[in-house]
Amino acid sequence: KNHIEEVKAFHADNKEKVEEFRIKYLGSKGLLKELFADFKNVPNEMKKEFGQVINQLKTSAEDKVAALQEQLESKEVARGIYGDLSRPGEPINLGSRHPISIVKNQIIDIFSNVGFNVSEGPEIEDDWHNFTALNLPEYHPARDMQDTFFIQTNPDILLRTHTSSVQVRYMESNQPPIRTISPGRVFRNEAVSSRSHCIFHQVEGLYIDKDVSFADLKQTLLYFTKEMFGKSKIRLRPSYFPFTEPSAEVDIYWGLNNEIDYRITKGTGWLEIMGCGMVDPNVLKNCGINPDEYTGFAFGMGIERIAMLLYQIGDIRMFYENDVRFLEQFKSSL
Ligand code: PHE
Repeated sequence: KNHIEEVKAFHADNKEKVEEFRIKYLGSKGLLKELFADFKNVPNEMKKEFGQVINQLKTSAEDKVAALQEQLESKEVARGIYGDLSRPGEPINLGSRHPISIVKNQIIDIFSNVGFNVSEGPEIEDDWHNFTALNLPEYHPARDMQDTFFIQTNPDILLRTHTSSVQVRYMESNQPPIRTISPGRVFRNEAVSSRSHCIFHQVEGLYIDKDVSFADLKQTLLYFTKEMFGKSKIRLRPSYFPFTEPSAEVDIYWGLNNEIDYRITKGTGWLEIMGCGMVDPNVLKNCGINPDEYTGFAFGMGIERIAMLLYQIGDIRMFYENDVRFLEQFKSSL
C-alpha cells in the first residue's frame, strides 16, 4: 500500500527518470515481478487482499508511466513547433519612414502650426490646372521652364510638373481666407543625374486673404527656415514665375563653418531653397477669386533638395533605389 502512494506521488521531467521508474516497478526484475513471485507464499486467507493490492499497484504504475510518457512527448512536440517557450522574445525588426516622408511631415507640421491645412490633387493633370490657369497660356515661352511629360498624344493630359496645380484646384473650390500647403510628387522630362531626377516631390504653399503683403510672405518664410533649419537669415532675390508678381528666389544663409558648407554653397554661404511671390491677379481671376478684394502669396520648394541638405545626401537617385542600407539610416527619425 505504501508503494501505491509512492507511485501516485512520483514525478519526472525527463525520459530517463521515467524509464528508471518503469524498470523499478514493472521491469523483468522489478518489484511487481517479486511481489507476484511471493504470491504463492502468502497464506490463503490473505491471498485475496494481497492480490487486489498488487494488482492495484500494477495498474497505478502502468498508468503513471503512460501519463508521464505522454506528458514528456507533448512537451517535445510543443518544443518542436514553438521552440523553447521560456526563452526571451526576439526584438521585432521595425521598418523606417522614407526620408522624403520624414521631411514632408516636418514641413507639414511647421506650417500647420501657423494655420495652414494640407491639400492634395491628382498627379495626372489637364493643361488648365497645370499651366493655363497659372498664367501660362499656350505658346507661352515659360512653359519650356518645365519640360513636360504628356500622356499619349493628347496634349491636354499630362503629368503635373508642379503642385501649383493643386492650388488652382483649391482656389476653384474654396474662397479666402485660404491657407494651404500642397505636398506631392511631380514629374519633369529631365535627364537624370545626381542632382536632378524626372520624378521628385514638392511642397507648395498658398495664402490668400485681404491685405496679404510681401512682408507677410517674408516673415512666414523666415519662420519656416528658423524651424526647419535653425537658420535665421534669409534673402529674397528678384526672379520670375508666370504665376507670381513680383517673384523671388529664397536663399538661406547656411554659413561657412566647414568644408561641406563651402562645397554646398559654392563658397558664398548662401543656399537657394525655394521660389515664391505674390499671386498674380490673373491667377486669382482664373480661379474665381476677386483680385480687387484679395491678395496672396505662394511659395514652392523641392523636398529632395531639403532632405539632401539636412542629411547630407550627395545623390538624389538614392531616394528611389530603395537600398535598405540607405533606408535603415533613417530609423531613429521615425
Ligand atoms: N511652381 C514653382 C516651381 O515648380 C514654384 C513656385 C511656387 C514658385 C509658387 C513661386 C510660387 O518651380
